[in-house]
Amino acid sequence: MAEPRPSTDEESAPLLDRDRRDPDSLFSALMHPTRPLSNLEKVLAAGSIILLLLMSTFIGLFAGAEVQLKKERASKGHDGTVTTTWTETATATSTKVTTTTVGSVPTGKPEASWRHGDAGELWAVIMSYIKAGDLGRRAADILDSLNTTADPCHDFYEFAVGGWVDSNEIPADRGIYSSFNVVADRNKKILLKVINSIDGTKTPNSAEESNQRKIKAVYESCMDLSQLNEVGIKPFVPLADFLIDTFGPVETEWRGSWDEAYEVPQELVARSDRLEELRVAAKTGGWVWERPTMERTEFLDNDDDVESLKPDTERRDRITKTLAWLHSRGVEGLVNFEIEGDAGGEDSQVQSLWLYQSFGGLPSKEYYEEAPILDLYQSVVAGMLTDIASNTHASSKHPKRDVFDEFLQELVEVEAEGWPWPWPGDDKGDGEDDGGKHPDVPGSKDEPLDKRMEKLAGKVVRFERELMRAGADPEYLFNPHFAYNPYPVQKVYKALPFLDIPAYLSTFAPRTYPENITVTHPPYLKAVSQIVEDTPDYVLSGYFVTRLAMTYAGALGQKTGVWKEARRLKEVLQGIKKGTEENRQDTCLNWLDGIVGYIVGREFVHEAFSAEAKKEGEDIINSIVKAFHDKLPHISWMDAESAKAAQKKAEAIIPKVGYPLTPDTTNPGALQFWYRMLEIKGDDFFGNVLRSTLVEEARTWQTLGRKRDRQTWVMYPQTVNAYYSPPDGEIVFPAGILQPPFYDFSWPAHLKYGSFGAVAAHELTHAFDNSGSQYDEKGRLRDWWTNETVAAFEEKAQCIAKQYSKYYIVGPDGKKEHINGNLTNGEDIADSGLAQAFTAWKSSLSNNDAPLRLPGLEHYTPEQLFFISFGRTWETLIRPQTAVVRIRTDPHSPGYWRAVGTLRNLPAFHQAFDCPVGSRDRADQPGTDEPAQGRAVSALVMIRRRDDSGSDRFPL
Ligand SMILES: *[C@@H]1O[C@H](CO)[C@@H](O)[C@H](O)[C@H]1NC(C)=O
Ligand SMILES: *[C@@H]1O[C@H](CO)[C@@H](O)[C@H](O)[C@H]1NC(C)=O
Ligand SMILES: *[C@@H]1O[C@H](CO)[C@@H](O)[C@H](O)[C@H]1NC(C)=O
Ligand SMILES: *[C@@H]1O[C@H](CO)[C@@H](O)[C@H](O)[C@H]1NC(C)=O
Repeated sequence: MAEPRPSTDEESAPLLDRDRRDPDSLFSALMHPTRPLSNLEKVLAAGSIILLLLMSTFIGLFAGAEVQLKKERASKGHDGTVTTTWTETATATSTKVTTTTVGSVPTGKPEASWRHGDAGELWAVIMSYIKAGDLGRRAADILDSLNTTADPCHDFYEFAVGGWVDSNEIPADRGIYSSFNVVADRNKKILLKVINSIDGTKTPNSAEESNQRKIKAVYESCMDLSQLNEVGIKPFVPLADFLIDTFGPVETEWRGSWDEAYEVPQELVARSDRLEELRVAAKTGGWVWERPTMERTEFLDNDDDVESLKPDTERRDRITKTLAWLHSRGVEGLVNFEIEGDAGGEDSQVQSLWLYQSFGGLPSKEYYEEAPILDLYQSVVAGMLTDIASNTHASSKHPKRDVFDEFLQELVEVEAEGWPWPWPGDDKGDGEDDGGKHPDVPGSKDEPLDKRMEKLAGKVVRFERELMRAGADPEYLFNPHFAYNPYPVQKVYKALPFLDIPAYLSTFAPRTYPENITVTHPPYLKAVSQIVEDTPDYVLSGYFVTRLAMTYAGALGQKTGVWKEARRLKEVLQGIKKGTEENRQDTCLNWLDGIVGYIVGREFVHEAFSAEAKKEGEDIINSIVKAFHDKLPHISWMDAESAKAAQKKAEAIIPKVGYPLTPDTTNPGALQFWYRMLEIKGDDFFGNVLRSTLVEEARTWQTLGRKRDRQTWVMYPQTVNAYYSPPDGEIVFPAGILQPPFYDFSWPAHLKYGSFGAVAAHELTHAFDNSGSQYDEKGRLRDWWTNETVAAFEEKAQCIAKQYSKYYIVGPDGKKEHINGNLTNGEDIADSGLAQAFTAWKSSLSNNDAPLRLPGLEHYTPEQLFFISFGRTWETLIRPQTAVVRIRTDPHSPGYWRAVGTLRNLPAFHQAFDCPVGSRDRADQPGTDEPAQGRAVSALVMIRRRDDSGSDRFPL
């Protein structure tokens, strides 16, 4: 039933179809006022209600009052009036959400009494609005966003989105509110409606229904806070039991340095942002990777030191089992294995095994040098460990089994007796000296549990800090030039004496046994081996339990100590006001993505996207690729040789729009099969999260050694984002971003090219700029620019950097903060791709087509509307504090300048608005009252990590 592809009826009536599915229609906004109504909408709404009343009366007359009125909501009206229950499109359920939409109205003159004075005008507006139907509403949207008092030549941003800025505000819990947030919020509403409409009690009759029940069950299990609180930490205890081994004390010089007034310094926030950006850039490009200036030292060729760390095989086996057990549950620790394309190899599509350093519970390594944060972190870890230890104590006869996974059953030999002293219950840590591994533990069983856990936490944090210090900076870690170090498995095995790699690998049972492991930062192997060698078991145990707790805290009830501690840390790290209640709906929707994201995606597509839109999106991208292709030989800084290579690259680009085909989101049976291993229980959220992680990890391991399935995506259909992947040569737009103001199927071409086309052009520019020049047409890490082209490009780039460095925002203190044009250079250049979107739009017009005009917007030319549409995608409200942080760290210019700066360089824009040569923008007018504008986003991309954290940071 819920096919993403609409029925043929719908195809022939796209406007009606659109109405039916538009969650944000005027009428639903009236019934569920979650956004402010614009003035025009208020007028229209009043009129429409009157009209509806009239129509109801007619219907009543026709069919005899009550009965018909009751049925009306659930059936198709006559005379072209479409009245639909929303649930019709999803599944037959008991929840009825009615979206009444008027597609067209009976002809005939309105009552004379409505036709005098204001009411007459009102009536005329209503009639024209309704006749124009959906197009009229779209036009109203655009009209509302304009401030026609502003001069587009003087301040285009104010002109294009001044109305929007004026009628919207930043939600209290956010620092920024932009077009991306608008779309994301609307997409969430769509999904919530779907979820609410699913009948979770009915026995499923089809793959579709069984898929939908999975969504419903995951969501309900997440939303059911009383159930979550009732089970409390219980589901976590058997997991912790597996890890807990031995225990002891610690010294802690940072204690006492944190207090409530502390705020994370901006430099640290910048470092964690940078790490995230680079992590994403490694997959999706747009980043110019620094090239190594000298030969790499062959670290693993000289590993005598490592070999001198004689592996203690008993200990090695324990660590190996523990790591395999943790990693299969998505818990990072000590070292991390990833399965990724063979970036530096002959075929970047082959999935190879990568070995990364570990990350900790703090956002980046610099946080581990900041005393107040360490202080806070230690108390958070102590709180978690205390909660875990005391609960395990409370049920000292807890079952000694891993209830979630059979295959490691025999490994779970945790002794529960004697809890909580020593941790976890053998005698090793309690007074016997056994050569440093289990040193004498001061203190006694009489010392309070929280004191002991406090000491253990100090050791754990210190250990984690050692690991972070041993790791590479993200600039190197994610830089494919530095990170691509394939070594034979045997060699890596020798370099990591604490890990039995063959045994580890056999746990994951990959279909192909790897020949090489790509080590991202070879010196880490030696360092981590030494650190592990120097660390007693009880600290390792505390560390593993902490990693587990940090990873799964969000899956526990809000009343558990573990959840509260994790939340406390998150509040400080993310600058959330202390004690702010989490938005549980958002949290659960995020989890839903991670657990059954493709089923959710199918539902989203069904509600908000069509097969025609997919086809059209692909056509638009192809036409822009063609515009690039034709332009390349005529770019002044690119010589003929480079241009030829660039054209080859353009020809190889694969556009993908809407939804992936692996798993096949158009086929409910395929989705059911995709999630067949995943058991979902409506009353076991923790178990749902855990089982899902096991399934997804196993799925990933099965790809090892094979070529990547070209139909897979790294985003879900409902995601508000897009990406260009240089190693894959793919440009990908999920249905989630093909929504207004980025795209609407009913729009005329100029609006589509101005917004969606501009985003596509931005991404494509990255394929041909200095970041794209590092990847050839097959996605291999091979430079294809000549030295002449490199030099000419850099000269041009500096012009743009100088231009943007003149631009500024105004901070909270009224001071100007200038853009660092070097920092934003790559993204600013990519924004200039707008020219190619314009060219592509122009070539898409055939001479005999009169351009489709939106009613109400007749006095703007299609060219003007193209740029208005572009401007709207950068509508952004941002708090001055947030703006300042972002202007210092964000490689994208503020939304304001992304609109204005880009257009300044485009003659077509000046022509369209007939702007005099040299018309000024605000940068030329220091002292004007500049609205603080901050990051909006460009070429998207932020891959959602598997957790519950929503993100304000839309990528592009
Ligand atoms: C519209 O723009 C003008 C000129 O820049 C400005 O004075 C006015 O405040 C703006 N109006 C709104 C509603 O933003
Ligand atoms: C393994 O790495 C070596 C370089 O260390 C390379 O020559 C070889 O082709 C790689 N093998 C595979 C299967 O990728
Ligand atoms: C290009 O420049 C690099 C480094 O500046 C140099 O090593 C190389 O030989 C140059 N290539 C050509 C073809 O001149
Ligand atoms: C930007 O980079 C250029 C070239 O590397 C340099 O000359 C210039 O000083 C830099 N500007 C800033 C503001 O850092």
